[in-house]
Amino acid sequence: MKIDILTVLPDLLISPFAHSMVQRARDKGLLDIRVHHLRQWAVNDYGQIDDYQFGGGAGMVMMAEPLAKAIEELSTDQPYDEIIYMTPDGERLNQKIANGLSLKENILIICGHYKGIDQRIRETYVTREISIGDYVLSGGELAAAVLVDSIGRLIPGVLNDETSALFDSFQDNLLAPPVYTRPAEWRGKKVPEILLSGDPKKIEDWRHEESLRRTAERRPDLLGDE
Ligand code: 6GU
Repeated sequence: MKIDILTVLPDLLISPFAHSMVQRARDKGLLDIRVHHLRQWAVNDYGQIDDYQFGGGAGMVMMAEPLAKAIEELSTDQPYDEIIYMTPDGERLNQKIANGLSLKENILIICGHYKGIDQRIRETYVTREISIGDYVLSGGELAAAVLVDSIGRLIPGVLNDETSALFDSFQDNLLAPPVYTRPAEWRGKKVPEILLSGDPKKIEDWRHEESLRRTAERRPDLLGDE
């Protein structure tokens, strides 16, 4: 899978992709992330890529032409399966969306800044608009990092049995059950007996029950879905 990212703050996107599962995916050659500075496609020698908004109001808007040139140049080799614009007014990211995107081959992510990007770019090129939650970030970069992390770990071959995504919270629309490690008794608090029983069927049933209980308690909205 190849993911291109268009941004005015490329430095913000170095560390998030240099650790853990995303780094593992890159090391294994399963994920190719390329961060591009929008400034490369600026309209003049000052490197201009934003301008005042028509109709007045505070805040700059990212201009159509640099974005269009960037998108067109980057899509010449291979057309994108999705051109995603990160924006707080997009559809809210969830596990189902991440699962779907992990099956694509070639994705472009546009990080907005300032007041956002010219509406005509959204209408002309963008195939999908994604938000990571109901709060406002200073720009789309951190949201893009969240999106790429959620997708990257799902690419077949990235996780092994031990880290399998099958048992993650949300994978079956349930939260994950509680987990414990050694010692079996810590400061007088014991690990649930069943986990020490060595009976895989009982343990699986217990985990499922705990998942249901936790979900009902914390996220009853998930139980109503689908
Ligand atoms: Cl994708 N961008 C910005 N700027 N803020 C957000 C967001 C995205 N998702 C939630 N808040």
